[in-house]
Amino acid sequence: MIGACIFDLDGVVVDTAKYHFIAWKALAKELGFDFTLEDNERLKGVSRTQSLEILLEIGGKQFPEHEKLAMAKKKNTLYVSFIEKMTPDETLPGVEKFLRELRSNGIKTALGSASKNAPMILERIRLTELFDIIVDGNSITEAKPNPEVFLKGAERLGVLPENCVVFEDAIAGVEAARNAKMLCVGIGEPETLGLANLVIPGFEGFTLEQLFVELRTV
Ligand code: BG6
Ligand code: MG
Repeated sequence: MIGACIFDLDGVVVDTAKYHFIAWKALAKELGFDFTLEDNERLKGVSRTQSLEILLEIGGKQFPEHEKLAMAKKKNTLYVSFIEKMTPDETLPGVEKFLRELRSNGIKTALGSASKNAPMILERIRLTELFDIIVDGNSITEAKPNPEVFLKGAERLGVLPENCVVFEDAIAGVEAARNAKMLCVGIGEPETLGLANLVIPGFEGFTLEQLFVELRTV
């Protein structure tokens, strides 16, 4: 029985990785080192603070806490200047249709994201109303793969974890779903998201019936 579906935001509902990349790359440049697209892969699903730690490790730099706070803030200011301009056509193909199908079949929907900017992004792409609840980086203390974000979502929806399905594009997120004892659909490549119960390339053409059929055998 599926009572609720919980969606990660970045890489599942929208592609914000490109904006994060430009903003982190600008910071790296200022600090005197290069930051590549390959490096950026390591930041997917990871919190802002942890992302900065990884970036500094790549550049072989160390800074006191107060300077790191200022750097994260600066990066976020640039990132926000991009997402402020986002429009609904940046929603990944098929997501909105699938969300509507879930809701019209009585399945609850939640957002489960590490991002503190999640409410603003949902407003910009006009999808806020399609989520019953939002759990984001402002309401959690533990980062994925800790299951906190998904367990909070299930609790607030009043649905048992075993009746929730999580949609995730990051390895840490798939692990968090498994740690929450929830079913997980990976969005991306099976080679990367092998721990998920099912992996699909995206939501285009994906239906609730397919979800039921694919997960019946799990
Ligand atoms: C996750 C992204 O969803 O949110 C990460 O995959 C990002 O790349 C994290 O670092 C935190 O986002 P924000 O918007 O709070 O800096
Ligand atoms: Mg993600």
